[in-house]
Amino acid sequence: MTSSAIAVSGLRKSYKDKIVLDGIDLDVPAGTIFSLLGPNGAGKTTTVNVLTTLIRADSGTVRVAGHDVGTEARAVRAAIGVTGQFAAVDELLTGQENLQLMVDLSPVRAKEGRRIVTELLERFELVEAARKSVSTYSGGMRRKLDLAMTLVGNPRIIFLDEPTTGLDPRSRRTMWSIIRELVADGVTIFLTTQYLDEADQLADRIAVLDQGRLVAQGTPDELKRQLPGTHVRLRFATAEELEAAALILPDSTRDEEALTLRVPGDGGTRSLRALLDRLDEYSIGAEEFSVHTPDLDDVFLALTGHATEVVAK
Ligand SMILES: Nc1ncnc2c1ncn2[C@@H]1O[C@H](COP(=O)(O)OP(=O)(O)O)[C@@H](O)[C@H]1O
Ligand SMILES: [Mg+2]
Repeated sequence: MTSSAIAVSGLRKSYKDKIVLDGIDLDVPAGTIFSLLGPNGAGKTTTVNVLTTLIRADSGTVRVAGHDVGTEARAVRAAIGVTGQFAAVDELLTGQENLQLMVDLSPVRAKEGRRIVTELLERFELVEAARKSVSTYSGGMRRKLDLAMTLVGNPRIIFLDEPTTGLDPRSRRTMWSIIRELVADGVTIFLTTQYLDEADQLADRIAVLDQGRLVAQGTPDELKRQLPGTHVRLRFATAEELEAAALILPDSTRDEEALTLRVPGDGGTRSLRALLDRLDEYSIGAEEFSVHTPDLDDVFLALTGHATEVVAK
């Protein structure tokens, strides 16, 4: 057994002369949340489709749950659950019937199946709507039902393709807390999103996908640290202390009115310690000390040169 739930190397996919995935490498440790972040048309769904055996790559190797997606597709499918970008629920059935259908298709016993359906309806706040036809459901309810259906088979690796796109804030929060619960149970999550805050909130690691290439990979904090603009802000009690600190920290910029000093740095522990040591050396104490890192919107702009709203067409 390897500790990688998903391992991708040199993945390429083109449609005619259009290169959609241009050499993707990534590794997702078991029991973690990995987020593939990118704007519309970046290649997120294509990646998910290859990783879940729905389409074949042109080249590269992809192993999911230790199995090759090309030669061991059946074993891969047995280990995964997939919630697509467009909910795959049956409109004509009720929510409960959709779930029961999944139970009937799975090897669980009837009694156990009924318990699972009841539990999932409760967990996804769908009890009231359980006996209504899905055609009356909101987008958020469909998404939740779709994920609930995925969970019937108790998959260890779950692919969620833009699970919260178009959801209202409340449904989005519900989805987030369900995702966190799944990971707490040891499930591995591969999540695509266009929302930077979503990746920041949920993911252990993020890969930024832009036009079929990964332009960055790392923890949310690592990505933020790659940017210019990270700085430490020091606030002093008196103008004298501010002045003294500014003299020993020549790269800093001061705000006389707020009695603050902005010191550029990478925000890492080493540079922070050096900064504090330097202040100590001159017996200067700051009233307040904070590290400011840019958010993921800044990350995307800096890495790709364009904002996330740009739709590639
Ligand atoms: N079957 C297909 N034939 C031709 N082009 C496709 C096909 N599927 C996807 N594409 C193109 O590949 C690019 C990436 O699509 P997709 O993976 O759906 O992106 P995302 O999910 O990030 O929005 C888009 O430019 C899309 O038009
Ligand atoms: Mg997509």
